Amino acid sequence: METTSSNVPRQFRTAVVPAAGLGTRFLPTTKAVPKELLPVVDTPGIELVAEEAAQAGADRMVLVTAPGKESVAAYFAEERELESLLARRGKFDLLERLRNAPKLLDVDTVVQQRPLGLGHAVLQAESTLAADESAFVVLLPDDLVLPSGVLETMARVRRRYGGSVLCAIDVPRESVSAYGVFDAVPAFGADPDVLRVNGMVEKPIAADAPSTLAAAGRYLLDRAVFDALRAIEPGAGGELQLTDAIAALIDQGHPVHVVVHRGRRHDIGNPMGLLHASVDLALRREEYADTFRSWLHSRLDSPML
Ligand code: G1P
Repeated sequence: METTSSNVPRQFRTAVVPAAGLGTRFLPTTKAVPKELLPVVDTPGIELVAEEAAQAGADRMVLVTAPGKESVAAYFAEERELESLLARRGKFDLLERLRNAPKLLDVDTVVQQRPLGLGHAVLQAESTLAADESAFVVLLPDDLVLPSGVLETMARVRRRYGGSVLCAIDVPRESVSAYGVFDAVPAFGADPDVLRVNGMVEKPIAADAPSTLAAAGRYLLDRAVFDALRAIEPGAGGELQLTDAIAALIDQGHPVHVVVHRGRRHDIGNPMGLLHASVDLALRREEYADTFRSWLHSRLDSPML
């Protein structure tokens, strides 16, 4: 069996990233630019997600795109001419930044011809997995989960309990109807933030929600999920929901756990979320932090003009 550098069996090699959405919340920009390429400070969201997957051990990303969104995968291609130009001009910092995305991992694409839902998007990636890949990760590029590292924790949980492992965040009860929500109980391990999932429901109304623990766009899935995805019917919003396939796996006795993420999470699929993420990242970037912080203070102290 393949192992990681720490000599433990590797839990996944492939990261599936659904990127087929129309990006209506970013219209009119998304008439011309896919939302996955909008920058958080200066780096497209899709690169941040690819970086997170690569750091956690993925060596391949399967982008599930829609017709007309070819530029998302094209972003990961090398630009030799531009590289030589920057090298000739001595712009080595920029050169390094330009080379980052193409070297992170191999990128394949599959096209989701019709927008039938997240579950349908994930199912499109099945044919790209090798026969020996018993699990894979899914990262929703609208979700920026900070600091990164939750995928590594999820891999440790799968190593211990098997099955599938998801990431949860605790959200205010009035927001639960935007998420997949867990019915979960302590897993009796040493870590109080690892829970066993007894059920999962997509976009419940607040009064019916089993908890305030919501799916945060990171999934480590056993490939048994593909059979479950083939069996589900349209659910919330009339779409084929990944949540419903996971709920079906639980009903069949498949172990599903969540890791509760106690850091931050931004929804960069909407303008305000992208703004929050940009402020957050700018304040963590050495080259911007000091000047941006003092500008922000003075801006907040000054009257609106
Ligand atoms: C999707 C999932 C939902 C999850 C959410 C996280 O919903 O279906 O279970 O909680 O992502 O962002 P969407 O935001 O695509 O409606």
